[in-house]
Amino acid sequence: MYFIYVSRKTFIVLFSLLIFSGALAQNQQTIHAGMNSVKLDFMLNADGRPSYKVYFGDKPIINNSYLGIKLANDSAFDKHFKLTSSEKTEVDESWNPVWGEVKTIRNHYEQLTVHLKQQDAPGRLLTIVFRVFADGVGFRYEFPNQPNLKYFIVSDELTEFSLTGDNKTFWIPGDYDSNEYPYTVSTISQVDASVLAKSATDIAVRYVPDKYGIQTPLMMKTTDGLYINIHEAALQNYTSMQLHADTKTYKLTANLVSDAVGNKAYMRAPCVTPWRTIIVSDKATDILSSKMILNLNEPSKIENTSWIKPMKFVGVWWEMQTGKSTWNYTDNLDTLDANGKLIPNGKHGATTANVERYIDFAAKNGIQGVLVEGWNTGWEEWFGNWAEKPFDFVTPYPDFDIKAITDYAASKGVKMIMHNETSGSATNYERQMDTAFRFMKKYGYVSVKTGYVGRIIPRGEHHDDQWMVDHYVRVAQKAAQYHIMLDSHEPVRPTGLQRTYPNWMACEAGRGNEYNAFGSGDNPNHETIMPFTRLMGGPMDFTPGIFKIKGYTADPQRQVKTTLCKQLALYITMYSPVQMVADIPDNYEKHMDAFQFIKDVAVDWDDTKIIEAEPGEYITTARKEKGTGNWFIGAITNENSRSAIIPLDFLDKGKKYVATIYADGDDADWKKNPESYKITKYLISAGTKLNVKLANGGGSAISIKPATDADSGLKFYK
Ligand code: NOJ
Ligand code: CA
Repeated sequence: MYFIYVSRKTFIVLFSLLIFSGALAQNQQTIHAGMNSVKLDFMLNADGRPSYKVYFGDKPIINNSYLGIKLANDSAFDKHFKLTSSEKTEVDESWNPVWGEVKTIRNHYEQLTVHLKQQDAPGRLLTIVFRVFADGVGFRYEFPNQPNLKYFIVSDELTEFSLTGDNKTFWIPGDYDSNEYPYTVSTISQVDASVLAKSATDIAVRYVPDKYGIQTPLMMKTTDGLYINIHEAALQNYTSMQLHADTKTYKLTANLVSDAVGNKAYMRAPCVTPWRTIIVSDKATDILSSKMILNLNEPSKIENTSWIKPMKFVGVWWEMQTGKSTWNYTDNLDTLDANGKLIPNGKHGATTANVERYIDFAAKNGIQGVLVEGWNTGWEEWFGNWAEKPFDFVTPYPDFDIKAITDYAASKGVKMIMHNETSGSATNYERQMDTAFRFMKKYGYVSVKTGYVGRIIPRGEHHDDQWMVDHYVRVAQKAAQYHIMLDSHEPVRPTGLQRTYPNWMACEAGRGNEYNAFGSGDNPNHETIMPFTRLMGGPMDFTPGIFKIKGYTADPQRQVKTTLCKQLALYITMYSPVQMVADIPDNYEKHMDAFQFIKDVAVDWDDTKIIEAEPGEYITTARKEKGTGNWFIGAITNENSRSAIIPLDFLDKGKKYVATIYADGDDADWKKNPESYKITKYLISAGTKLNVKLANGGGSAISIKPATDADSGLKFYK
């Protein structure tokens, strides 16, 4: 055994080159790897078919599952392999993310690399790399440089995840063009993606019934109480992976998103696939604190990151979502006034005066940024057809004085956030990207929110296919060149690439709060599932903070299916380094006492503790603000009320703090009385255990700051 010191914090242990232990069956080769409770077997059967098996403790959680790739116009690349060599290494290092949930992340794994050679002519090579962490397993295919596999097309990936039973599953259909679905909670045997996909009529995307699988990150719970999450990491230069679920055998199989002509991925060796990830624990809280997906991504490619800054922002946004104002300037492009000018509809949201009101509100309340949507020409025809879209990203509507707005924002110390809705016309955006980013720089914008509503151009490509996967990365890279932060809406769901491109702060790629403005809304359990599913890959621009829970549209039936306090708690339970303060200023001004939490809450953290969690039921999370001793806690529940029990043993011992508790009112209920809340303040210490009642569909937010002399009159929490 050899030890190699790579850096002060990294050491690699090289084991012997070939390790074959315990042949399970005749002619079957097996190699073991493990890290604490997580163990992996790699196997090559008598037919030269590679497979793997994963255990948590002594329990298998993934039964023998085959591995392989199908190449277009060729035989499957999944059997008749011979093991030529293998290596094991151990890495234990730490790194500090540019922003994140914790200050330092430990990356500790045992890596098993198996080198395979196909025995059939022309003797192609395949390498499979497994990394076994204390919280799960990642593995990927590597295609080494070789004479007989240079340019190739992946027509299918044959990776399997054979579940050991009929796991409880939190799933959305694997639509190639949208992740904006409500979750279904069912066993694997009851997964029927086509049924749900058909009923989700509020999705304005193409429906591909014969191709549906289910989406990842897929969260599951076994009948004996183990939590398993399957996803992928570092999705680049490949297409995204959905899963086909066999409802009889409980076997999941990779279902890659295809492109316009039915291919999956175009490759040039040497190259690699993304990592396939399996996170496992007997505690749901461990799933939420796993950093495995980030660890499987490459370090930052951006050297100077000083310009990347987490922030909160308001936006000329919810008023359009709810129909109070419009993105478009005119209702009729064909009717002009006597001077040949467009006739304004009188409801345009992005007017200079309105934007200045949002800037004032942000400046007054210490909110760093202002987003403005509907500022540029083209919104009259922004989606609903498959023609090239009219956006040029540099031409403001006549009532949006960009120079005046820029000067005003600068005078108030507020940063402007650009909006580039592409309406899926990615080619149009690529053509104009440099011009668009130069325009942002000229007017001092620090960040851009992109959007991909509707059908993708190039026609036939999908939001989640390889062409688009690469497009989103190109946008992140281009934005980085201009020192612009990025928040993408309607992209492929994230896979931890924010480590590599830390200016890619967040994306939507899931069903956000916006669905409460249209469609069937978000169910009361929605936010207790999302951190276990969509957010496993990266931060979400969920747009929390709606204070007017009912009566914000003309439809009296419509409402947000949470209490007001649950909206506060989402700033903690839905992690993102950019958090929208999503409601309109008028609605905040009616509840300035509750708004204080949003003013105070941080967006960048030194530490995070997941205190209690159960997918679909509840989550309580505590986070320590970066650089201060302040803590913030969010606790949420589904449609059922509960008491969140919160021991504060993470606080500094022997120190007094003040806790401000924003709790559901005694009579609060998401349906009957969602805006009822009460705010209390107590002295607390590390020995305190809070007991906070959450209403049906409710939540609670708590801010904790070191006590000062001014707090001496407060009562100690009992
Ligand atoms: C959908 C986005 O998710 C939303 O935030 C945006 O306002 C609209 N598209 C318009 O771009
Ligand atoms: Ca959206």
